[in-house]
Amino acid sequence: MNQTVPTPPPIVHTVADLRAAVAPRRHQGVPIGLVPTMGALHAGHASLVTASQAAGAFTVVTIFVNPTQFGPGEDFARYPRNLARDAALLAPAGADLIFAPATEEVYPPGFCTRAEVESLTRHWEGAARPTHFRGVTTVVLKLFNMAQPDFAFFGQKDLQQSVVVRRMVRDLDLPVEVRVCPIVREPDGLAMSSRNVFLSADERRRALCLPSALRDVEERFAAGERSAAILSAALRARIESTPGVQLDYAAIVDAETLEEVSAIAAPSAAIAALRVGATRLLDNALLGPEFRSR
Ligand code: PAJ
Repeated sequence: MNQTVPTPPPIVHTVADLRAAVAPRRHQGVPIGLVPTMGALHAGHASLVTASQAAGAFTVVTIFVNPTQFGPGEDFARYPRNLARDAALLAPAGADLIFAPATEEVYPPGFCTRAEVESLTRHWEGAARPTHFRGVTTVVLKLFNMAQPDFAFFGQKDLQQSVVVRRMVRDLDLPVEVRVCPIVREPDGLAMSSRNVFLSADERRRALCLPSALRDVEERFAAGERSAAILSAALRARIESTPGVQLDYAAIVDAETLEEVSAIAAPSAAIAALRVGATRLLDNALLGPEFRSR
């Protein structure tokens, strides 16, 4: 048997070591690609690594469960952490380096500076989790400054996050190109998420109402329906009629501003969040002439 197990990428824990590892590549003219994550990696994260590799970049995956983006009572303490498993998963995906800083490396004593994107963060996830995006943009800006990437890869799975990060990059003239990659799904349609491990078999079955409601909206859109009221009512009804599931929000929004729309004329998205048991799940589908149906 001639099976080669790919070697996991090296792991650095400090900003100094990160910069020392990246500098020679930058000097050789190799672009740097950054894939920020909180670990508990799955094929969705790996797809971002693959996209970075496809861009010809030296690919740095950051693994940091960022405390500032979790609110009180959220799942920071129970968020799954397993660096060795994550490193093994990244080996076949082709990551070049893992940056896994300790909390004090990112937030040294006396830390009191934040990056905040306004208005875009008021709705949806921002309404449900008021301090969440401030924590995300603060850590993402710091990671950009630490690694100074040419490209940064984010998932459409967290659509609002990708829109907010893009806006921060534009508003602050950050020298990085943000690329947003498609949602990777389980065979049954559930969007891959580090939080799926929290679902019991029964909750998992109920959670499938989320991708199937979005697929239904995509099909209606593909068949010519352009009324956002009709599409969002269908989305909501499908989720609300599933027992044991609490709808958080479901809406048809402009893909850039995330404001609700009445008719779909520009690129839009169907977005939804629900709770099943103690787990909160998000999903979305892009709707627009240039978006192909899944
Ligand atoms: P995390 O939830 O670990 O996700 C890291 C990246 O993977 C995000 O850009 C997310 O959108 C993407 N991702 C997650 N599930 C995906 C899926 N099924 N398909 C494609 N991409 C997927 O998002 C965060 O971490 C954090 O907020 C972070 C940006 C790292 C800041 O702390």
